[in-house]
Amino acid sequence: MSISDPIRLGAAGLGRGFMLTLPSLRRDPHTRLVACAAPREESRSAFLAEFGGRAYGTVEALCRDPEVEAVYIATPHQMHRDHAIAAARAGKHLLVDKPLAITMEDANAIVQAAEDAGVHLITGPSHSFDQPVEAARALIGSGEYGAVRMIHAVNYTDFLYRPRRPEELDTAQGGGVIFSQAVHQIDLVRALMGARAERVAAMTGAWDPARPTEGAYTATIAFEGGGFASLTYSGYAHYDSDSQQGWIGELGMRKDEGAYGKARRALASLATPADEPALKSDRTYGAVEAPEAAPYAEHFGPVIVSCDRADLRLTPEGVEIWGDTAREFVPAPPDPAPRSAVLRALYRAVRLGQPPFQSGGWGAASLEICHAILASARTGGFVDLHQQ
Ligand SMILES: NC(=O)c1ccc[n+]([C@@H]2O[C@H](COP(=O)([O-])OP(=O)(O)OC[C@H]3O[C@@H](n4cnc5c(N)ncnc54)[C@H](O)[C@@H]3O)[C@@H](O)[C@H]2O)c1
Repeated sequence: MSISDPIRLGAAGLGRGFMLTLPSLRRDPHTRLVACAAPREESRSAFLAEFGGRAYGTVEALCRDPEVEAVYIATPHQMHRDHAIAAARAGKHLLVDKPLAITMEDANAIVQAAEDAGVHLITGPSHSFDQPVEAARALIGSGEYGAVRMIHAVNYTDFLYRPRRPEELDTAQGGGVIFSQAVHQIDLVRALMGARAERVAAMTGAWDPARPTEGAYTATIAFEGGGFASLTYSGYAHYDSDSQQGWIGELGMRKDEGAYGKARRALASLATPADEPALKSDRTYGAVEAPEAAPYAEHFGPVIVSCDRADLRLTPEGVEIWGDTAREFVPAPPDPAPRSAVLRALYRAVRLGQPPFQSGGWGAASLEICHAILASARTGGFVDLHQQ
């Protein structure tokens, strides 16, 4: 094996998360898919037809494959613990899709298993890997604009009306926007602030009895050194904040404005709620074509970073710098696909021993903030953080 060899990757779970990473897996030279684990025969056959290699019915069998060096865990949240620990114990490096787990106990158990096995653990893909976030971090790191004082992050989507499995609508099982969406916003805000989060105050909304979990929140995070961030998200939205992003969607694709209302229309067309999981699985690998590689970077809604001497506005194409006396634009194209950055990070960790900051501990710290949002919404006060 040479240092330039791609990472031989096994994919655990070929659902929606995998589909979104697939265009990058197909194009990026840093990884090569050699095996998968999927309970659905349709997905396994599609994998063998596209990639060859081996397709297993269980993650445990995938973990016994000696050719697999790293496992991308894209199974439902509640399975991350068992699947990640099985892979770590088999000596595989880990890329665990967000959130790292549902409970802090599970997240910490995953981190511990990776440490015990001496394998790399990356929490991702997540939006802190987006090229404009990386570009903004470089601008902040240059020191030219002074300290980061405040970050404003907003996102208005129809998340709650996209097809869901039943557990995705039950907070106790990791459902709702806190575990699936706040975790992205927390991740990118922490990455931009570059300081330890200290405490959180938040309110959450669960406004639709037919989908009984949190669909919206607004949260304030206070950071060491005095910086603070406001995070607002609505998964009930009719307004689409991608309209502020040049109609480029979260995945870096130009949006079809004519598709307005598509998610709600599809849900309304179901004969019974029991048909909803099938609507979701109709979008998995082997059932439909994966999207093309996106021409723009991924993003998670409008974000403005206020520094002493400039405001930085992240766009899907780069970073606008609103300085004291002039405005500038720093482009940040995705090369060769939007999720190349996370695949390159895995490669750099495994081949070069240079792990990214988005480690298991990082993922656990973001998860702690998810729980703090829920706790603050219950108690009405600030919640102190202890695992940052
Ligand atoms: N980073 C992102 O942008 C992003 C986007 C979507 C989902 N995700 C993450 O991906 C994970 C899965 O969510 P999803 O929306 O893809 O759900 P999904 O239901 O579409 O996909 C889950 C897949 O796991 C498979 N699966 C179930 N049990 C399994 C088992 N025991 N072994 C192997 N495979 C098994 C299912 O057949 C399904 O194909 C979640 O943790 C979610 O947060 C991340």
